[in-house]
Amino acid sequence: MQTHEFEAIIVGGGGAGLMAALYASRQVKTAVISKLYPTRSHTGTAQGGIGAALGNLDEDHPEWHAFDTVKGGDYLTDQNAALVLAEEAVSAVIELEHLGLPFDRTPDGRISQRRFGGHTSNFGGQPVRRACHAADRTGHMILQTLYQQCIKNNVKFFDEYHVVDVIRVGDQVAGVIAVNLDSGELHIFHSKAVLFATGGWGRVWEITSNAHSLTGDGNSIVYRRGVPMQDMEFFQFHPTGIYRLGILITEGVRGEGGILLNDRGERFMERYAPKIKDLASRDVVSRAIHLEIQAGRGIKGKNYVYLDVTPETVNRYLAEAGETRRVTREDIESKLPDILDFCRTYLGVDPVKEPMPIQPTAHYGMGGIPTDLDGLVVLDEKNTPLSGLYAAGECACVSVHGANRLGTNSLTDLIVFGRRAGKHMAEYCKSAAVTPLPNNPAEEIEAELERIRTANGKTKPYQIRNEMQQIMMKHVSVFRTADGIQEAINVLHHLQDQYHHDLMIDDRGKRFNSDMFEAWELGSLLDLAEVTAVSALARQESRGAHSREDFSKRDDEKWLVHTLAYREADGSIRLAHNKPVDLSLAAKDEKFKPKERVY
Ligand code: FUM
Repeated sequence: MQTHEFEAIIVGGGGAGLMAALYASRQVKTAVISKLYPTRSHTGTAQGGIGAALGNLDEDHPEWHAFDTVKGGDYLTDQNAALVLAEEAVSAVIELEHLGLPFDRTPDGRISQRRFGGHTSNFGGQPVRRACHAADRTGHMILQTLYQQCIKNNVKFFDEYHVVDVIRVGDQVAGVIAVNLDSGELHIFHSKAVLFATGGWGRVWEITSNAHSLTGDGNSIVYRRGVPMQDMEFFQFHPTGIYRLGILITEGVRGEGGILLNDRGERFMERYAPKIKDLASRDVVSRAIHLEIQAGRGIKGKNYVYLDVTPETVNRYLAEAGETRRVTREDIESKLPDILDFCRTYLGVDPVKEPMPIQPTAHYGMGGIPTDLDGLVVLDEKNTPLSGLYAAGECACVSVHGANRLGTNSLTDLIVFGRRAGKHMAEYCKSAAVTPLPNNPAEEIEAELERIRTANGKTKPYQIRNEMQQIMMKHVSVFRTADGIQEAINVLHHLQDQYHHDLMIDDRGKRFNSDMFEAWELGSLLDLAEVTAVSALARQESRGAHSREDFSKRDDEKWLVHTLAYREADGSIRLAHNKPVDLSLAAKDEKFKPKERVY
């Protein structure tokens, strides 16, 4: 088995991984391992913008951005993290600009900014233009920019190597095990530090904006090696996915003036968020769409509503609001080209002429691998670190998004916390000793992969996956109840049993065995689905994206606390609710104290 030696290993080639790699590689020998080609990572699908209080078009301040992030997160956000995010976002965006990112420009040449849900001026006032954008391809541009910089900086890339285990030696990390997808051979990557930046796990649900690769591998790998998962009950449904397909329609559409309409042609968000309407936070808008559909006001009685960005409709509402600005077909074409293309291609709908059919789509995990502000993975409520192990981006939980992330803050998170983690990792590697590898570190994972490759039962992976996705969509999505979640847990237990004892795969080969890897990824999804459901059942309140019909109010007295889910030796889940939320801004400023959210 081949062994590679590096100081810093980054798992995942999306925005967080590449930003960390760029910084780490300036000081230490760094490699990025990715199961994809890095430029195909999911960051590339982030559309509408990256949030930073540049104040290029409206007055803006990092404190306002921090406030919106805390309020958007329904006060589960760690406030120290929100302040770091908002303050460092400004230099991070300028840094991206200087690295070559082709942002759209204002007429006088500054970075252009647009409105996005939940981003306001003056601590909850009017919508503010804070999302810095490159048309509706902002994530794509970030990815290309950082990849080029990493190449220039001699980061070594191992593309199409699938990481399947982390080497943990006591309270130290010593590398990872990966499979070269081309040859099927296992490789050992021996390092002083490892950073996971493996993205999300939206494929747990049936309707999702997430690509097929978003299977939460990094989370389940470290979870199986004793790292808890934090706040997994909070999974965001983006309000506007293409009906039935789930593909993201950026919130930037509403930022440019797009309006949500029900079957009666009503702008229903006026009832749910009278102040900022269609630009309320995502949890609020997704619930509103569900309630409209439940009340029979979905289009033609079906489970979708319209998102209308035709110039005629947008201009009518702009005029009604007393705004002088008007949009033209050309504005929409130049600011939202990808969205127009998706709708024309997949739906045969032309958004400059007719409304788009949309429904909420599973989009983003607020929870994940717990870390401190430098991306160092922590093991408990006291923030005890696991030396040499880092996480950043969606797989991590800093926790800056609390119970509900604001749009554009994922890209900000990648860049701000990817940069902090890369810097910290490099410093750590410069002083840390090399941890010797244990004997045969790949033994366990080799046996598991062999079990899957030769699995000879009766149940195909797709059957298990479909059932998991359907039950999670039905019972652990926008609205939840104890009975429904319990039913989902029962089904998941049954599916776990089938996965471990009755799996059947067709391809027995070694090279590019996607049948085997999809089955292995399914194991990760099942783990994370179960952690999500068990965490959701325990939290008896409604907060952010976790909306319990049987506990409809937020309960700060009992539940202003993070969830930690540990995997026990027998595979069961132990929950702890003893990790406090950082309220350091509230301690100094009344405005940051938890209160009822009104939009
Ligand atoms: O709506 C969007 O463009 C998505 C952005 C995000 O998830 O932050």
